[in-house]
Amino acid sequence: MGQLGKDFLWGGAVAAHQLEGAWQVDGKGISVADVMTAGDVNHQRGITDGVQPGNNYPNHEGIDFYHRYPEDIKLFAEMGFKSFRTSIAWTRIFPNGDETQPNEAGLKFYDDLFEECLKYDIQPVITLSHFEMPYHLVTEYGGWRNRKVIDFFLNFAETVFKRYRNKVKYWMTFNEINNQANYHSQFALFTNSGLQIQPGEDAEKVMYQAAHYELVASAKAVQIGKQINPDFKIGCMIAMCPIYPLTAKPEDVLKAERAMQTRYWFADVHCHGRYPEWLLQYQKNQHYDLDITADDLKELAAGTVDYIGFSYYMSFATKDNGETTLHYDEEHDLVPNPYVKASEWGWQVDSVGLRYVMNWFNDHYHLPEFIVENGFGAVDHVEADGQVHDSNRINYLRDHIIQMKKAVEIDGVDLIGYTPWGCIDLVSAGTGQMSKRYGFIYVDKQDDGTGNLARIKKDSFYWYQKVIATNGDVLE
Ligand code: BG6
Repeated sequence: MGQLGKDFLWGGAVAAHQLEGAWQVDGKGISVADVMTAGDVNHQRGITDGVQPGNNYPNHEGIDFYHRYPEDIKLFAEMGFKSFRTSIAWTRIFPNGDETQPNEAGLKFYDDLFEECLKYDIQPVITLSHFEMPYHLVTEYGGWRNRKVIDFFLNFAETVFKRYRNKVKYWMTFNEINNQANYHSQFALFTNSGLQIQPGEDAEKVMYQAAHYELVASAKAVQIGKQINPDFKIGCMIAMCPIYPLTAKPEDVLKAERAMQTRYWFADVHCHGRYPEWLLQYQKNQHYDLDITADDLKELAAGTVDYIGFSYYMSFATKDNGETTLHYDEEHDLVPNPYVKASEWGWQVDSVGLRYVMNWFNDHYHLPEFIVENGFGAVDHVEADGQVHDSNRINYLRDHIIQMKKAVEIDGVDLIGYTPWGCIDLVSAGTGQMSKRYGFIYVDKQDDGTGNLARIKKDSFYWYQKVIATNGDVLE
């Protein structure tokens, strides 16, 4: 039986734009996250034309991690973290994205942050692009629909690979690159790829083109990184929500298979270095004339990833709708699963699904895995005793860790680590709210921007401390 190794990377995960704040400090440029207003469970976040006065842009302040990180890293160390996943804000290094020379103040910030982690033997795990590309690349180049962005990204990647070659070992290229499979979602297209669809454009085709350029950029970055430090481990990052057939009806099963193919072909390219046959045929049937060159295909084959980083929060279900083309469309083809309960935000909680997807990834790609996000977004209350009693979060995480351990111990999955999402409360990516909290550490900041930013250890803080100390043996 396998087991969690003694070097298992227990830790937590965040992304620069959701907690750093300091959106204009030390030469930072405007990112796509800086033009997104706050929404809520019923209202999507707005995307404004540049930063417009009078709007609430929650990422501008975040939780002011930029100035408070020594205090926060110390709390992570107290929990026993072995790893801390964050991203490098591209706009701190290249404020507009298309400069040739980096911004030294931005580079220095991450030097200091990584030093602070290493001081406590916490390994930084770094995402290069996590929903925060320079806004200038959107307005001037149309985001990732433009091949030129590949070189801008590679300049950024090479700069940080070189600068942090002795401080960072684990990297990932594009966060949740496959979210944009839901090409109807303006949010997904904008945050993944800086895409704004023009009237009359075919959003699906634009997405396939942008994703191709990103995958080429990822494959080239992997190769550049390996030259800079052969010990680097460079992974992809996939948003994994398995899509089950609603019933055992063969047509439902077939539909679910196409749904999985549609959401996860990105992983095929990252891990196998080539496009799957069904997708090539689909693009041909659609008469999509994409800019995919023979050189691109060589790069994809040469730049496969070392491991699969993935997020897991929930599962989906789908059913046949009588179409022979099998086209899967995330906006219209999902149905509620009667066997699982949903969170206040409608996320279907399914811990067994975590074991399922770990097996699924293993069978498809035979690569090490890294669970780089998992967690429960919920409203927390500071009680009269000044504490936060978040048993719902503990229950969620415990159930998932139990399944994670089964996948390792019984099913033989090779797992590098586990970094629950939002280990300290931060701005929700999807809604821009503070009230959708994931942390082990509460932050006194509310949706309207009020609060003194004080940090409070929740019950889950002490629970997770015990989990790490016992390498996952004690989960009570
Ligand atoms: C993932 C993202 O989609 O899920 C994170 O990588 C995000 O950036 C997390 O914050 C949770 O989603 P949300 O919308 O609840 O913040």
